[in-house]
Amino acid sequence: MPLVPMRLLLDHAAENNYGVAALNVNNMEQIQAIMEAAQETESPVIVQASRGARKYSQDNYLRHLMLAAAELYPSLPIVMHQDHGNSPATCKSAIENGFTSVMMDGSLGEDGKTPSDYAYNVKVTKEVTEAAHAQGVSVEGELGCLGSLVTGEGEKEDGHGAEGKLTRDQLLTDPEEAAQFVEATNVDALAVAIGTSHGAYKFTSKPTGEVLAMDRIEAIHKRLPNCHLVMHGSSSVPQELQDIINKYGGKLRQTWGVPVEEIQRGIKHGVRKINVDTDSRLAITGAIRKVFAESPEKFDPRDYLKPAREAMKEVCKARMIAFGQAGWASKIKPVSIDKYKSYYK
Ligand code: 13P
Repeated sequence: MPLVPMRLLLDHAAENNYGVAALNVNNMEQIQAIMEAAQETESPVIVQASRGARKYSQDNYLRHLMLAAAELYPSLPIVMHQDHGNSPATCKSAIENGFTSVMMDGSLGEDGKTPSDYAYNVKVTKEVTEAAHAQGVSVEGELGCLGSLVTGEGEKEDGHGAEGKLTRDQLLTDPEEAAQFVEATNVDALAVAIGTSHGAYKFTSKPTGEVLAMDRIEAIHKRLPNCHLVMHGSSSVPQELQDIINKYGGKLRQTWGVPVEEIQRGIKHGVRKINVDTDSRLAITGAIRKVFAESPEKFDPRDYLKPAREAMKEVCKARMIAFGQAGWASKIKPVSIDKYKSYYK
């Protein structure tokens, strides 16, 4: 199946009330883990790469790996998405490199750390939407700054994230402004700020509604019932993955992520794309640490990359099942981005 635009998957998810995990990658093993998880659960797939990931792995490698995935798993619809594009130029270069969906994160300036204003956000996002839609590519925008309602600070994802203290207003997307933003930019999906942040250290105890504002999702969905919402920073940071890392020599501080049942609540209220990166990283690191600790004589990378890939696959499978995307792959009729150009109005 050709790589498909993200709008195709999110529209199907909305029609059938489920969410799709958007899983970050940096290398071949992570792509393999996601594809095997999708194959075993018959799930549609969103693979995403940040700017940092594109730099680390190089666009040519990434593009060919994703085309290989499409060839190896012909029954699965696959989206290749740019995570947190910092400028129209970044998004346009992603489109040139075969991405079928891009995020223009205009909530921050081009430096990827300074909160921007509404007018700037609309301007750059609209520019990207016009260019992307003309190529059949889908667009995610962001309104509100991702960051913790506990500390008032953003956490960087691959160098991208707000710096300094943010106000509660900046950290929570306003439903009315969201409606204006979607109208003005014509985005296909909107990332909202509700107190989630990137990385392992999201909450200092199991989150309550004070620090994880799921009621904000409900309010935005009520105001914008036809817009696909995106939850960033949505790793659950499972205790068992923290324990494996610490058992084998790691030094993670006790921490809490976004409980899967809260994400399921979001899915009931318009959340269609759920970004998960940290959980995969934790699974990989735990598995590698275990091999190093238990078999220090080993030095063939396959001896630790195989269990690492397997551990990430299990996390991906669990999320695909929990978010409800499992079983839907064969029900989605593939449409290539070329044929999708006329879809966007
Ligand atoms: P996590 O760090 O919670 O996995 O979030 C990843 C993310 O939102 C990527 O954009």
